[in-house]
Amino acid sequence: MSAEIKVRRQSSRKRSRDRRISHLTPARKRTSASGRQCPDNTGQIELSRALDKSMDATFSEYCSDPEDLFGDYDSIVSDSSFLAKLDRVGQNMRQHDIDHTTSSRCPVILLAGNPDFTSLKSSTDNCPKQSCDDSMTESFLEGFTDDAFLDMPSSQLAFLQDPQTADRNCCTDEDKTSMPMRHPEKSVSTEERNERHIAPKARKSVSDHLKRAMMANAATPSSVSRTAVQKEAVVTEEISVAMQAMESVSMATTDLGPFFGLPTKVKELICNLKGIKDLYEWQKTCLNLDSVQQRRNLIYSLPTSGGKTLVAEILILKELLCRKKDALFILPYVSLVQEKVRGLASFGLELDFMVEEYAGSKGRFPPVKGRGKRSLYIATIEKAHGLVNSLIETNRLDNVGLVVVDELHMLGDGSRGAIIEMTLAKVLYISKSTQIIGMSATLGNLQDIQKFLKAESYTNDFRPVELKEYVKLKDSIYEVDPKEEECFRFSRVLNFKYSSAMQKIDQDHIVALVTEVIPSQSCLVFCPTKKNCENVAGMICKYLKEDFIQHKQAEKAVLLGELRSSGNGCLCPVLKKTVPYGLAYHHSGLTSEERKLVEEAYSAGVLCLLTCTSTLAAGINLPARRVILRSPYVAADFLKRSQYKQMVGRAGRAGIDTHGESILILQDKDKVLAKKLVSAPMEICKSNLMHSDGKGVLSLILSVIGLNITNSLEQIRDFMSGTLLSVQEKQVCLERSLWEVTQECVELLKEKGLVTVSTEPQDGSLQVTKLGRATYKGSVDLTYCDLLYRDLSKGLESLMLNSFLHLIYLVTPYDMVSQCKPDWMVYFRQFTLLSAAEQKMCAAVGVSESFVARKAAGQNVKKNVDQVVVSRLYLALVLQSLLKETDLWSVADRFQLSRGLIQTLLSSSSVFCSCVLHFTEELEEFWPFKALLTELTRRLTYCVQAELIPLMEVAGVMERRAKQLYNAGYKTLAHLANADPNVLAKTVENLFKKQANQIVASAKMLLNEKADALQEEMDDLLMMPLDLLSL
Ligand SMILES: Nc1ncnc2c1ncn2[C@@H]1O[C@H](COP(=O)(O)OP(=O)(O)OP(=O)(O)O)[C@@H](O)[C@H]1O
Ligand SMILES: [Mg+2]
Repeated sequence: MSAEIKVRRQSSRKRSRDRRISHLTPARKRTSASGRQCPDNTGQIELSRALDKSMDATFSEYCSDPEDLFGDYDSIVSDSSFLAKLDRVGQNMRQHDIDHTTSSRCPVILLAGNPDFTSLKSSTDNCPKQSCDDSMTESFLEGFTDDAFLDMPSSQLAFLQDPQTADRNCCTDEDKTSMPMRHPEKSVSTEERNERHIAPKARKSVSDHLKRAMMANAATPSSVSRTAVQKEAVVTEEISVAMQAMESVSMATTDLGPFFGLPTKVKELICNLKGIKDLYEWQKTCLNLDSVQQRRNLIYSLPTSGGKTLVAEILILKELLCRKKDALFILPYVSLVQEKVRGLASFGLELDFMVEEYAGSKGRFPPVKGRGKRSLYIATIEKAHGLVNSLIETNRLDNVGLVVVDELHMLGDGSRGAIIEMTLAKVLYISKSTQIIGMSATLGNLQDIQKFLKAESYTNDFRPVELKEYVKLKDSIYEVDPKEEECFRFSRVLNFKYSSAMQKIDQDHIVALVTEVIPSQSCLVFCPTKKNCENVAGMICKYLKEDFIQHKQAEKAVLLGELRSSGNGCLCPVLKKTVPYGLAYHHSGLTSEERKLVEEAYSAGVLCLLTCTSTLAAGINLPARRVILRSPYVAADFLKRSQYKQMVGRAGRAGIDTHGESILILQDKDKVLAKKLVSAPMEICKSNLMHSDGKGVLSLILSVIGLNITNSLEQIRDFMSGTLLSVQEKQVCLERSLWEVTQECVELLKEKGLVTVSTEPQDGSLQVTKLGRATYKGSVDLTYCDLLYRDLSKGLESLMLNSFLHLIYLVTPYDMVSQCKPDWMVYFRQFTLLSAAEQKMCAAVGVSESFVARKAAGQNVKKNVDQVVVSRLYLALVLQSLLKETDLWSVADRFQLSRGLIQTLLSSSSVFCSCVLHFTEELEEFWPFKALLTELTRRLTYCVQAELIPLMEVAGVMERRAKQLYNAGYKTLAHLANADPNVLAKTVENLFKKQANQIVASAKMLLNEKADALQEEMDDLLMMPLDLLSL
């Protein structure tokens, strides 16, 4: 039987892997390498080189979310420093209690390890006289009222409102707000305190006390005003009424409570925290649908900016509050997950549920049990898959009542689409009571997806702001009207006066188009490449009048200052030139900190124009009055209909514009294709399990066997019949039936030594081998699992530990290799700076000094050297420099790479490092790696000074903000969790109150989560073994 499966590629992205040996190619057919025995009874995997010299696949093919794959660094259990801190705090507390035994005024101070908060005040008071930049800051801040957020959640206001609480504080009023929070409710009696510190086993009792106190402390202060108490009572009452109604009334009843089955408080929170006073009609209709009431699966599809998220959030709240079940919210990008965590943390604190982040290397597998509190897991696609796997493994998937998938059309997006499909197929197969809700703006084949998810659908054309689409050909502008035969109806001639020099430089009249709207209104210019973004931004500035510089000058100066400080004094020369005009570029070459600053400035109106790549359309909610598509291409590929729709969908700011408009700039040659683009139906979304030579099917089968979901061919067949691939079998499995593909994949997994047949007599069931388990547990790409095994084995033989280099090399992602070509001169220079031991290690992995020297001298090297190893080592050198210096800019400069790429390398290495850690945990022979990789993951995840790490664990707090917070005296998570957002906003430069609220809420949530984890660990320790009595 030929084991080669030929499939049609599903993704339109360019791939050139044809030369690569497929992992579907049986190992015996490949070039056999000097084989190390693999760790299983099925035995020998021929350690073939899965990566041949054609390793030219783009990184995004394997991981289009470059910051994300899998990992669970965030484990408090393994965080011994946290326990040590607790111990220290315990000692402090004992000391404190002794000091204050007689002082009944002063309640127990929680987590006040080093409460030197006078520095907080003095840092504000002693602030050097405001520099020019500072005065700009003030006027900048004046420009922004955050009225919408004045109505802070009561949990955050309560402490301030209650005069008694203030009285109970030992400190002055000014100090109060920056003090670590004291226990707001119970003033602990002297007796009680004495009892506590007299008690034996002090460590346990103090830790216990602290853990409980931390939770109480981080949660809402309960010493609240009468109105707040009354409100709470109303909420509780309403929740219980809603729950009773749920139980008693018929399932078809739509009216389960005052606000779609939820307490009025939810409505108030939506108004206060989101500024949304009333729901759109379609949102109300959708929430009242029978399918929603009866918890059937649902896909709803509306144009961009239609307000889909709010409906999903209300349904999530219903699940958490009324049904008391957990919910999983899947979003496509790390930045979106962080934004949602920040936004929903306040809801969690007010309504008493946990909000947990699963993105990058954050997220615990399996999650903490929550001790009665429901959890909302907000996850990227990859982390959601890991989470679902861990819940299946621990038999807890039924606790998840609702799974919401945003941007459901991403099912059709390469390997990431395959991961969504695997996740949903598992949920559908295992937990029949879990409701699935998907939303999208661009689904062309709703029926297929409906069939896959056994879902009903709801569609609506609603758009809060009318969108007018135009195209520009030469100097004429045509309105798009797909109903007309010609598609384009003449609208107007572009009015502009160009000099001949200008005409040469701006042939497409972009300056004329943008100056019709900026600076008073906003504009996005989508460009086909990153370089083009920078060039177009620079070119536009060249022709803008001086008036543009005057517009919001002070605010722009502040922005430049912040950009500079985010780069540790370095400022991008392009931004330096464009920001004074109110322009910036936005693409993956910027660091995430720069991107965030640019996005915030654009949202606040400080910047009026962004030139950007298509990624901006998918990731963030940054609407514009006018959207210009510089050309109908993304890189060299003609736009897809869904990409076009996502981009033009950014036009029109709800509540601000009466309409939005998009203009697609066309050349004559593109006219025919463009007509198709604007009028064709949306592309259909196809299963991607066959993507990359069927890698998805292979991974899926491996994990369903590993998770004990299935263990026979028949059961696998049954499972596969519930996939989207099965629904689309005729379209996707062109040469073989799905059943044939399934059987072949099982055979291949056996050949690769990942799956075996039980040797028990009469059994014959399929089982994963140790290597198979390590592969799916570590979420290691099947293409690399045997290569990784070999590299780690070889590493063990001669692990060099007097520098990080060897370990870093072992966790440098294989799929990043194609992203950068070594600069040989730089390589040589760096090589010569290595220690003798490091050079020896380099030679041992296959890169000698003489080889690099010859390459640097431009000589041809005949020796057979593995290019992948050479490039991987180069990336490892970059990473080692980063770990040493933590300065992205200087490393970027030294290695002549873009800072964005370096940041991507760092984040994907941290994620891969945690994958490798999980991989090694399953293979006993790799035991020494566990401790080493745990620490390395931590270092790679937060490549900053150690003291900033606790602050950066809070969703969306990046290095610059962490530094500001640290310098302002907020040195730990507990400081942040107990901070008063008002003071925080005043103390920290350029921190708006809304942001301060979100930071405090997220910190409280994280502290709760950590305390829960400790509590769970303790409960497990103290639990009486069930089988004890029978002994
Ligand atoms: N009822 C409402 N009233 C006013 N604004 C609303 C309402 N519902 C949602 N919005 C706002 O509309 C904006 C767009 O909403 P949302 O992000 O949910 O759109 P979407 O349908 O998910 O679009 P996309 O497909 O682009 O992701 C958000 O800023 C949101 O706060
Ligand atoms: Mg959306």
